Amino acid sequence: MKRVAVIHGCNLNLLGRREPELYGRATLEEINAQIAALAQELGVEVTFTQSNHEGDIIEAIQACMGAANGIILNPAGFTGTSVGILDAVKAVGIPVVEVHLSNVHAREKFRRHSLIAPAAVGQICGFGADSYLLALRALVGLMS
Ligand code: DQA
Repeated sequence: MKRVAVIHGCNLNLLGRREPELYGRATLEEINAQIAALAQELGVEVTFTQSNHEGDIIEAIQACMGAANGIILNPAGFTGTSVGILDAVKAVGIPVVEVHLSNVHAREKFRRHSLIAPAAVGQICGFGADSYLLALRALVGLMS
């Protein structure tokens, strides 16, 4: 069975309470449950990680080597700054879909620039929790 790792970056543990007008009212647990339900339907295994620490995100990406066939990554506040996360994505050689709940292109200018996007197979943003579900469908399509 194919395996997909879902990695959530900083502050996403506060989903549901954090700026709900931008990020919606669903908690991270509820979003993960939606992803897990779709994964079951699509016949893939999913694992979930969230961390507020850049190094933990890098380690979670590294841990995918030999353990996952695809990665869904919301780098959150690390998107525009983390060379370390970019390098980890490049190092593991596993397809990564970059995800954002909000439409980062319709927000402040600094959110539009992603260091990760050039190393990702694609970026999905602006669909709330559905961004993750679309990413899962895209990855499963790529892996089959
Ligand atoms: C986010 C968008 C980022 O700009 C922001 O720093 C986040 C969440 C999103 O999912 O919309 O923390 O990645």
